Amino acid sequence: MKSVFISGAATGIGDGLVSKLSQEGWRVFAGYRRSPPERASWFNHPAVTPIQCDITDPAAVKSAAEQVAAITGNKLDLLINNAGFFGSGGVVECPDMEEYRKVFEINFFGVLNVLRAFMPLIRNGQGPGSGKGRVINVASSSTYMIYPMASAYTVSKQALKTATMHLRLEMKAFGVEVTTLDPGAVDTPMSSDHEKNSAMQWSAIPETLRAQYKKLFIDTETMMQNSFALYTPDRFADDVYCKIICSKRFKPVYVLGPGVAAMPWMHRLLPLQQVENIWGKVFRAK
Ligand SMILES: NC(=O)c1ccc[n+]([C@@H]2O[C@H](COP(=O)([O-])OP(=O)(O)OC[C@H]3O[C@@H](n4cnc5c(N)ncnc54)[C@H](OP(=O)(O)O)[C@@H]3O)[C@@H](O)[C@H]2O)c1
Repeated sequence: MKSVFISGAATGIGDGLVSKLSQEGWRVFAGYRRSPPERASWFNHPAVTPIQCDITDPAAVKSAAEQVAAITGNKLDLLINNAGFFGSGGVVECPDMEEYRKVFEINFFGVLNVLRAFMPLIRNGQGPGSGKGRVINVASSSTYMIYPMASAYTVSKQALKTATMHLRLEMKAFGVEVTTLDPGAVDTPMSSDHEKNSAMQWSAIPETLRAQYKKLFIDTETMMQNSFALYTPDRFADDVYCKIICSKRFKPVYVLGPGVAAMPWMHRLLPLQQVENIWGKVFRAK
């Protein structure tokens, strides 16, 4: 039986992936933090073992890896670093440093904690052919955007993508495949709570600057609320399973979700100035 550990598995995309993989016959270790596993769609599935694991806590992550190792005989076939946090770091000229660091602690350093603890198991795992275990790091399609007032999230995810490329090259010689998954808009707690996210973003801007940022803030929020069709977590998980997990070879990056396929092409084919102009028009920034 193939085995997988998924972080942030009690809600949204993680919940959808646990359900899909357990239905497909995988032994799933579902990492969760605060959201109770009892509310997840997979709760009580015999092939799923919930494991409490805050990825910013190295001791908790080590303990999670030990629990998995004890059950699987010290190996793991797939690791999905899915846990993530949007946060609100404010504007770059005057960021909320504490919040900015929190976003990095989860989206970047948290993933490093998990890799540190789980890579020994992945090295003993089995992928397609003679390959070892595999790793999917979940970043975001927002890394292709210049999205005003969300820099903490996109910069942390961009850092994760770069680290993932390093890991991919470093692990190649050992037969471990690594990839980045950049989701488009999926209907999850992270994407659906617009009012809460907006309020957090707004309050992260220092009061002295709010009058100056008001128009850009409203334009950005309006655009983000109106523009994206959302996949359900189940549909997204089906795509991840068919296009990534079942593939014989991992590509460096997968961009999956509604309306996002053109984003990497735009970055590859257009000069950065044109890309900037496009996002400037999208967000109506002057
Ligand atoms: N939904 C989208 O449109 C979209 C688009 C691009 C990328 N993504 C990425 O997809 C991934 C899944 O997000 P989602 O949309 O499914 O949102 P979500 O439902 O909010 O899931 C995020 C999960 O991460 C967990 N988490 C946060 N901090 C954690 C920590 N320190 N340790 C362990 N788990 C932690 C959360 O647990 P708690 O609930 O307990 O806090 C939650 O279960 C994230 O990496 C996100 O950045 C999502």
